Amino acid sequence: MVSRVIPVDPFDLVIFGGTGDLARRKILPGLFRRFTAGQMPGDARVIGAARSELDDDGFRKMISDAISEFIPKDERDPKDVKAFLEHLHYVAIDARGTDGWNALGKLMRKDVVHAFYFSVSPNLFGDLAERLHEHKIIGADCRIVVEKPFGRDLASARSLNDTLAKHFNEDQIYRIDHYLGKETVQNLMAVRFGNILFEPLWNAQYIDHVQITVAETVGVGGRGEYYDKSGAMRDMVQNHLMQLLCLTAMEPPAKFDPDAVRDEKLKVIRALDPVPHDDIVRGQYGGADGQPSYKEDAENSSSTTESFIAMKIHIANWRWNGTPFYLRTGKRMRNQVSEIAVRFKEPPHSIFDEDAGTNANELTIRLQPNEGMDLRVTIKEPGPGGMRLIEVPLDMTFADALEQNGSDVPDAYERLIMDVIRGNQTLFMRGDEVEAAWAWTDPLIESWKERGDKPKPYDPGTAGPEDALMLLHRDGRRWREIKP
Ligand code: BG6
Repeated sequence: MVSRVIPVDPFDLVIFGGTGDLARRKILPGLFRRFTAGQMPGDARVIGAARSELDDDGFRKMISDAISEFIPKDERDPKDVKAFLEHLHYVAIDARGTDGWNALGKLMRKDVVHAFYFSVSPNLFGDLAERLHEHKIIGADCRIVVEKPFGRDLASARSLNDTLAKHFNEDQIYRIDHYLGKETVQNLMAVRFGNILFEPLWNAQYIDHVQITVAETVGVGGRGEYYDKSGAMRDMVQNHLMQLLCLTAMEPPAKFDPDAVRDEKLKVIRALDPVPHDDIVRGQYGGADGQPSYKEDAENSSSTTESFIAMKIHIANWRWNGTPFYLRTGKRMRNQVSEIAVRFKEPPHSIFDEDAGTNANELTIRLQPNEGMDLRVTIKEPGPGGMRLIEVPLDMTFADALEQNGSDVPDAYERLIMDVIRGNQTLFMRGDEVEAAWAWTDPLIESWKERGDKPKPYDPGTAGPEDALMLLHRDGRRWREIKP
């Protein structure tokens, strides 16, 4: 099945930080794929803006190399690459000075959508906004896109929001959390609100608990300096896992529109109870088989930053009272798994003999890899010998069910950039949402700092520290296995 492509309006997209890692790895390869899918209008322009003294040709060469590096060979026809590169332009610009701004102003066309992607360090956001304003490059139909991390605590997030608000309205600001662009994350909303089947059971009366896991096999090597100041809480929980939690727990919005969806997510964040320190386990990977430990990767031998975190969260509202949400995420774990597992309660009364066994249903939404859904149901074990119950999976891998191949499914960045051009903010974080997430996160971080808490060591290639297992064991539950 080939996905339906709806072309977007003509645009000029300026990427500040156009020669940086994100632009080369994700943004421009993503745009190339939208181009080959036929979604980019013929006169669309992508303008790289950065400090390096390049011209259009130099930038095109750089992006041609990036496409060769990040797009598989069978998905890049040289003719397409050549045609795509013609859409690219470059302006050498000084975010804090005057160089390049007049040239950028002249390049921008009237009557097309203007989008400015701030793929730069957040401490330049204010300068960029100011220069765009000074040089009158901001038109009415303009949007800005900002990347995570959006602040490192409530105070810095507020100050960033205030800085941007000087020149842009909230409906012009697109704060990216790339998890929201993932196909299966959106599927979570489709599954919950597009079916009658799940919603009546989607509450504390029928759901025993929810597990959200984002496990990665990679370490932090290469970005240790950033990561050591963030840790798993700031890098993953405050944003990506929080978004997954919100989409799982929120009330049905009245419409699938930006504010209706974001209002409901915000209510979930505001209903989160503070987490007692006994309900948080932080871990840090050691080294093994010649692979560096976290401390070596971070080049900080006394680091107390967590590369793993597990926590038990309560949402204090009518729907979820008594149903814990267990979250865990970590680096250098046994396997790459991102999933949301909803464990239902057992039936209230069994009509079968005690030795028939009992099972609880479980719905798992696999975000990656192998995107799909798995519903565990109870059936009779086939064969003679009376009624014995077993659990079987109703397992669906989306790619098989929809006869898709990987290239039909847009990557998160592709979708999100096209949403920016379309002016659809549903999959972007609103300012108050980000602030509420920090308001919940800050006291947890402060509390472990005050206590001088040190993360528990764990072996790479495992499911994290032992204490994380205990977090569920002591409640009579167990984590889903992270299979090798
Ligand atoms: C990023 C984090 O936002 O998300 C990284 O900074 C993490 O530490 C990455 O590895 C995970 O994204 P994905 O799409 O690979 O699950």
